[in-house]
Amino acid sequence: MRIYLDQAISLLNSGQLAAVPTETVYGLAASIHYPEAIEQIFSLKGRPSNNPLIIHASSIQQVAAYASLLPKGFEALANAFWPGPMTLVLPIHVEKIPSTIRSGLPTAAFRIPNHPLALELIDQTGPLVMPSANLSGKPSSTCIEHVEQDFGAGFPVLDGGACSNGLESTVLIFQESEWKIIRQGSLTPDQFLPILGVCPKIDSDLTGNAPLCPGQLYRHYAPKAQLILKEAFHPGDQGVVIGFPGKEYPSKCEVRYLGKTPQESAKNLYGVLRQLDIDQIPSAYIDDSFPSEGLWMTLRERLKKASQGSASSHS
Ligand code: TXA
Ligand code: MG
Repeated sequence: MRIYLDQAISLLNSGQLAAVPTETVYGLAASIHYPEAIEQIFSLKGRPSNNPLIIHASSIQQVAAYASLLPKGFEALANAFWPGPMTLVLPIHVEKIPSTIRSGLPTAAFRIPNHPLALELIDQTGPLVMPSANLSGKPSSTCIEHVEQDFGAGFPVLDGGACSNGLESTVLIFQESEWKIIRQGSLTPDQFLPILGVCPKIDSDLTGNAPLCPGQLYRHYAPKAQLILKEAFHPGDQGVVIGFPGKEYPSKCEVRYLGKTPQESAKNLYGVLRQLDIDQIPSAYIDDSFPSEGLWMTLRERLKKASQGSASSHS
């Protein structure tokens, strides 16, 4: 259900939930001051309690006030990419942030979203915790309809139109004297080079007792449809293909297009995956012959995760 800014402000300031647009994906928001609302986020999404939430602020000062230490490079990163699709995990004054938000960790994740409605809202409510506004494990939401598909037509959504990026923020942590990417996202490693002087490494190691990014342990972005990544197509192939405009596919294939550029593909990705389930398509191929650099790399990571989570590997 579409709501306006003043309605979103009063819902959140009275301890209720609302979905909020950001430039990456829609968030399922609660005020940092209402522990019960925060718990409701976990139950509504079906989210494991050991997967912490991102705190969304509207200024760098707001973020800095929670941190017990600002690692080297923090200011340069914040000035370069906030507001924007970057999330920084920082050591915090634990008494200032309820344990449920950070799943008991001595750190918390922060981001200043680059969306005028979200920023205006946070100015009126104070910091908001927001995971992506989707059922846990499912594709994220990039428009009001997606939020309604998951939480019902009556669920309050501050309508900011379609998200401009379509992929979540890039999450970084400072560890062993360097910034590491612990969740790939809208910003690619090479974009950090001019700011940090190095390209941050991607650390997706989940083998330790305490994974750097708990969320990476779980299945993600997956529609009900089984997804199969496929590098080459042959004349006899048939079925639904998630592919790219300008490429030729076998005549018996029904092609659903991502986009010509990685940006356009990112913007369409979750909508295309959601549509498979709406159309009750049991399985689809994904044309995996796209490049590996830049944002294509994030797209491939999302598609791989989405295909691992599909029915076939969970049966
Ligand atoms: O673009 C985005 O980041 C969106 C929009 C709404 O801002 N939000 C989003 O939130 O993607 P969520 O909850 O779907 O993903 C947050 C990720 C999870 O993988 C979580 O484990 C990780 O951030 N995270 C949160 N707090 C953390 C912490 N203290 N240490 C390590 N990872 C953390
Ligand atoms: Mg999510």
